[in-house]
Amino acid sequence: MITLIINIKELLQIRDSSITKVSGAEMAILPTIKNAYLVIQNGLIADFGSMDNLPEIHADKIIDATGKIILPSWCDSHTHIVYAGNREQEFVDRINGLSYEEIANRGGGILNSAKKLNETSEEEIYNQSKVRLEEVMQLGTGAIEIKSGYGLTVDGELKMLRVIRRLSQNYLITIKATFLGAHAFPLEYTANHNGYIDLIINKMLPAIAENKLADFIDVFCETGYFTVEETQQIMDAGIKFGLKPKIHVNQFNSIGGIQAGIKYNALSVDHLEIMKPEDIEALKNTEIMPVALPSCSYFLSIPYTPAREIIAAGLPIALATDYNPGSTPSGNMNFVVATACIKMKMTPEEAINAATINGAYAMGIASSHGSITIGKKANLIITKPIHSYYQLPYAFGSNLIENVLIEGEVIS
Ligand code: NIG
Ligand code: FE
Repeated sequence: MITLIINIKELLQIRDSSITKVSGAEMAILPTIKNAYLVIQNGLIADFGSMDNLPEIHADKIIDATGKIILPSWCDSHTHIVYAGNREQEFVDRINGLSYEEIANRGGGILNSAKKLNETSEEEIYNQSKVRLEEVMQLGTGAIEIKSGYGLTVDGELKMLRVIRRLSQNYLITIKATFLGAHAFPLEYTANHNGYIDLIINKMLPAIAENKLADFIDVFCETGYFTVEETQQIMDAGIKFGLKPKIHVNQFNSIGGIQAGIKYNALSVDHLEIMKPEDIEALKNTEIMPVALPSCSYFLSIPYTPAREIIAAGLPIALATDYNPGSTPSGNMNFVVATACIKMKMTPEEAINAATINGAYAMGIASSHGSITIGKKANLIITKPIHSYYQLPYAFGSNLIENVLIEGEVIS
């Protein structure tokens, strides 16, 4: 099956296969071809170039993209889209003055979602989650990481990871699974942290590894959740089971989580709303991807990740949604890209790099996703007719996507 797309107003994010992430000043550069064509063969990008050099191609299907821009689909490297129910009441409680932390301390927050998840059948969790997955695919996401972490019991965590696997079997979108048993301490372990960590290490991890249910291990390293020492213990165990760490750090406090991530060679450190100069300094000369989640900052009214300082230090940055029922009930990567420009002062070029190639890196899939490169998956966004790619973040409330292709197939 050969699809030929012609008359593309501008084709964005053209990269050589050797590029797996872009950092520092390079993030300001977004290589493009104006008036371009693109050939898709068997779900992969087979060729592209200027319309001036269009070769003779016997295509099964031709798409005319006159006036439209094409870019690689978004790579959302941090989500919690498998969950049961919602936390709308907590949203209203926060409007009325309670903080996210106060709600959590009253048994709401993650424990509220865990209660709901454990009371909901696997089938029902699957049905609720697939609606969210289908929604984000329509919004241009072509690869996604999904975490467990609302089970907090052996059965609950395995149930979540099986739902993630079933989603990845039933949908063309690339899905990476992360085990986040260390998301919060269940109430019965409040005074017995070692008991819960023992459960994670000796019961959950072996069962997950045996069934190959996860690619990565995550820990919520934060005051009131997991200490740096506890985080290290869990990362260490995860690595022994073949899971690379991707960790929640510096959301509300800078307590040394980044330094722990560096020590255990994490693929990414995520959130980073509260950064001390030494946190940025520590990330220099590492291969770790800093991941910012601006719609979480927006929803909770907490500081935004200091992207300008991170980029000025020569570091890369990726953007993701954090889609979850408590801190970010939205999986819209278009909004994330716009908010990064508007609130974090990232340029459109930096934000698009952060949401494509750097997002792919943060999921370990940069060799197959995140750029227009021959041999990579034809996971593409085709916009409506627009003036320039600046319009994507500029018109922040509009849906400017006309079509999304996953492995060359139009999904709608
Ligand atoms: O990334 N910070 C920890 N975990 C999620 C929120 C979890 C929740 O509130 O349900 C996050 O923001
Ligand atoms: Fe998160």
